[in-house]
Amino acid sequence: MSGAKKLYIKTYGCQMNVYDSERMAEAMGSAGYVETDTPDDADMILLNTCHIREKAAEKVYSELGRFRPLKDARPDLKIGVAGCVAQAEGDEIMRRQPLVDLVVGPQSYHRLPQLEAQTRTGARALDTDFPLDDKFEALKTRGPKASRGPTAFLTVQEGCDKFCAFCVVPYTRGAEASRPAARILDEARELVDRGVREITLLGQNVNAYHGAGPEGSDWSLARLIWALDAIDGLERIRFTTSHPNDMADDLIEAHGTCAKLMPYLHLPVQSGSDRILKRMNRKHTAESYLRLIERIRAARPDILMSGDFIVGFPEETEDDFQATMDLIEEVKYGYAYSFKYSTRPGTPAAERAQLDEDVKTDRLHRLQARITHHQRAIQDAMVGRTLGVLFEKPGRLPGQMVGKSDYLHAVHVADCPLQPGDLARVEITESGSNSLAGRLVSPSGA
Ligand code: 5AD
Ligand code: SF4
Repeated sequence: MSGAKKLYIKTYGCQMNVYDSERMAEAMGSAGYVETDTPDDADMILLNTCHIREKAAEKVYSELGRFRPLKDARPDLKIGVAGCVAQAEGDEIMRRQPLVDLVVGPQSYHRLPQLEAQTRTGARALDTDFPLDDKFEALKTRGPKASRGPTAFLTVQEGCDKFCAFCVVPYTRGAEASRPAARILDEARELVDRGVREITLLGQNVNAYHGAGPEGSDWSLARLIWALDAIDGLERIRFTTSHPNDMADDLIEAHGTCAKLMPYLHLPVQSGSDRILKRMNRKHTAESYLRLIERIRAARPDILMSGDFIVGFPEETEDDFQATMDLIEEVKYGYAYSFKYSTRPGTPAAERAQLDEDVKTDRLHRLQARITHHQRAIQDAMVGRTLGVLFEKPGRLPGQMVGKSDYLHAVHVADCPLQPGDLARVEITESGSNSLAGRLVSPSGA
C-alpha cells in the first residue's frame, strides 16, 4: 500500500480502550491510514488515555512531551489524544500542550476521520460531546476484513450510573448505555468468521447490560450470552467488569449451565468494611457480597474469583483495612487488582481528608502479599488437573505453544503440533512463577 499514511496508537488503561483503539484504527483505515508499531515513522500519533487514577493521567502529559522532537522534525505529524483524559481534560490538554492537534472523547470516535481532515487544514480539533447516534454502528468498516487472533474483546455496554464516590467513569464515559443485541451478535459472527474462538464481552458495568432484543423487549446479559452460545465456532465467552448489585439470577444460573461461559468472574468489592463501603457509595455490604459469591459458587463450584481493591480510602482505619483482609481470606481470589486510593477531581471523595501516603503504601503491600499467597496456591493446585486450553501463539522455545486455560492462566506446552486458535485438553504438570506447563492429552474436544 504505497502512499498510505501511518497511524501509531498507544493504548493505556482498561480493555475497553484496547477495543476502542482497534475500532479507531479501522475507522482511520477508511481514511487511508495503516497502523504502524512505532511513533518514529508515523503521520499521526494517537494516545488512547486512561483517567482512572492520577498517575495514569500524568503519564499522558509526560508522553506528549516526548513527541516534541518528532514534531519538530516533521511539522506535518498530527498528534491526537483520545480516551478518558481527553473527555475529562480536553480544554486543558489543548491549553497545556500546543503540540496536540486533536482531542477526541470516547463517545465521538466515529467522528475521528472528519476531525483528522480538519487538522489537515491547519486547525486544531476538539470533540468531547456525548452525541446520541450509535457510535459503534458508525465505526463499522465495510468490505472484507483480515483474519485475526483467536481472542477478541467486544463492547456491549458503556458508561455507569453507580457513582462510586472515588470513580471518574460516570463522568468520562457517561450514563449506562447498552448496544442492541442484534448488532452485538452480528459483530460476534464476523469475529468468528475471522478466526476468533473466544470473546470477552466488555462494559464498565457489563452485567447491567439491558440492550434491545430483536423482538423489541430488552435482553439481559445472560440472554445475550445464551444467544452467543448458539454461534458455531465460538468456543468461549467471558465478560468484564461487573458490579455485585447487578449479578442477576439468570446470570448466576448461566455460570452453572452454559458450557461456553468460562469459570472465571471478575467481581470488584473495593473494601471489606461496611463503614467504608457506605462512604464509597457502593450500595452493598461485605456480607451481601460474600452471600452472593456463595450463590455463584453453588452454581459453579470451581469458579475462579477475581476482584479490585482500593486501600487508603478517606477515613479508612486499621480496623476497616483488617475487614478487607478478612474478606480476602474468605473469598480466596485467583486474581486481584489493588490500588492506593487516588484523588480524582470532581468526585465526592476528593473533598474529604486524605490518608498519609505511607499508610496507603503499607496497606497495599500487606494486601498484595495476601492475594499473591492465595493466587499461588490456586495456580499450584492446577497441577495434576486436565484443563481446556485455547492456544494463542508460539512460545519462546522452538516447538512450544502458549495458550490460556479456562481459568485464564497462561499454559505452555512443549513440542506442540497445534496452531493458534486450536483448543485442546492439557494435563498440567508444572506451576511456574507466572504460568503453568503441561502436556497435550487430546488435541480436540476440550
Ligand atoms: N483510586 C484508586 N483506584 C480506583 N479505581 C477506580 N477509581 C479509583 C481511584 N480514584 C479502581 C477500582 C476500580 C478499578 C477499575 O480501578 O478498584 O474497580
Ligand atoms: Fe466506577 Fe465501577 Fe463504581 Fe461505576 S461501578 S462508579 S465504573 S467503580
